[in-house]
Amino acid sequence: MEVKKINTFLEKYNTIAVLCNQWGDTGKGKFIDLFSHWADIVARGTGGANAGHTINIAGKEFCFHLLPSGLLHKNKINIVGNGVAFDPRVAKEELEILKKETNNEFGKLMIAYNAKLMLPTHILLDRLNASGAKGVGTTGRGIGPMYQDHTARTGLIVNDMLNKETFERKFIRNLENKMPILKSYDKKIIKEILNHEHLGSGIYYDEENIINIKRVVEEYMKYGEMFKHQISDTDKFLRDNKKTKKILLEGAQGFLLSIDYGAQPFVTCSDPSIEGLSKGVGLKEEDVDKTFGLEKAFYMTRVGEGPFPTEMGGEKSSIWCREKTKHEEQTKYPNVTVNDEDEFLQGIAIRKEGFEYGATTGRPRRTGWLDLPLIRYAKIINGKDIVLTKVDVLKDCNKIKICYSYTYDGDEYFYGGKILKKGDILTLAPNDQYVLSKCKPNYKEFKGWNKDIRNIKEYENLPKEIKEIIEYIEIECDVNVVIVSVGPKREDTIYRS
Ligand code: IMP
Repeated sequence: MEVKKINTFLEKYNTIAVLCNQWGDTGKGKFIDLFSHWADIVARGTGGANAGHTINIAGKEFCFHLLPSGLLHKNKINIVGNGVAFDPRVAKEELEILKKETNNEFGKLMIAYNAKLMLPTHILLDRLNASGAKGVGTTGRGIGPMYQDHTARTGLIVNDMLNKETFERKFIRNLENKMPILKSYDKKIIKEILNHEHLGSGIYYDEENIINIKRVVEEYMKYGEMFKHQISDTDKFLRDNKKTKKILLEGAQGFLLSIDYGAQPFVTCSDPSIEGLSKGVGLKEEDVDKTFGLEKAFYMTRVGEGPFPTEMGGEKSSIWCREKTKHEEQTKYPNVTVNDEDEFLQGIAIRKEGFEYGATTGRPRRTGWLDLPLIRYAKIINGKDIVLTKVDVLKDCNKIKICYSYTYDGDEYFYGGKILKKGDILTLAPNDQYVLSKCKPNYKEFKGWNKDIRNIKEYENLPKEIKEIIEYIEIECDVNVVIVSVGPKREDTIYRS
């Protein structure tokens, strides 16, 4: 039934994209899984093992980071595109789980020969905080250092795992500018980091030279051997098939974390917008017939550092989420409620209700109210079609606040060719971290609906309080809410055409 509905909903399209319009974690996994039924090919084009989605195999939950989740569907082709940071260790681990748990009944994997190659040194530098990203709160998956190498023209690609001499030559060159940095650290710290299982549990450490080059080469040659049948020109494959096959582009991270569109430095190092995603699989943006931009509603979350104007509990929340674990939070605050007068506590209760703890890092996600200036900003690049996710989470909230504009509260500041002054009103989110950090949200309050909505199948049957908020968002942001997700299950999905 659900599959029929999806096929009808998507029948006009050849290529679609599902991506997040916020700071990640908007529930892409559910839609990738749903739309995979429609697709022949699922392709990722940005990010790397910093992404995290929970997948369910035969009733057991697994957290996948790198491989497209369309692999769960046995007749589908899954592509890791040229824009992805490919970490062969993670790919191997995820494939092993798939093989074991599905009895080898999973989709076909293709890896772009020109995908960027993650090296142990990238992860080491990320974990040493040695790539200029201090204070950003990265996921420690090597993303920043790897993309830095790409733009510095010293990076390696997946294809290099198939050519020993090239790999060796490029890797030695790649290490040249890293050795002085690595040598400036206490060897004990480096050894400890390299002992992590993500880094081969110590096999890459060398007492004399810090990095055991020979061992890295050997291991990567083994990976090359392992993946050689999957590595190919996936850009060409997608271009050749774009008119005849149904293609689903799977976004990673979120628009607001884009290296190009996010507020630096609190961003990731790829461009998760529709532009970056299409380029990252070898297509043009105009090849994508429909882009679905996911917005968690009517609250939102952020992992890691950076300005978050509507954060419940403001700075107190951001410090708490930086320092505490899920367990510590739940032990200290077992009885918080989503109607707590104290927004910090209310934020914790909403986080608990929405299971907002990082899939990759386990960190509590900072929680805030839905922010329309940010939706307007994402729309400029990702387009007007919006999917509202997790709408069921706030079911017990008596009052919902929606931020419709900001009042600037900083010093006089040049921004975008104008001088901003205290008291100025902004309706479009700025992509400047200073300005965004000085934006105070202006809210419109709505009444909650106080009932479970998970079984509702038609838009008309949603509580009038929810429809009022949705229509407010559509008018205020000039967007179309095309899907409303009212629960985690496939059938908890309302399609509007
Ligand atoms: P990096 O991508 O590991 O370099 O991390 C840069 C910033 O992006 C940090 O604030 C991370 O928490 C954030 N980030 C990266 N990937 C994700 C994601 O998939 N969801 C949410 N935040 C992410």
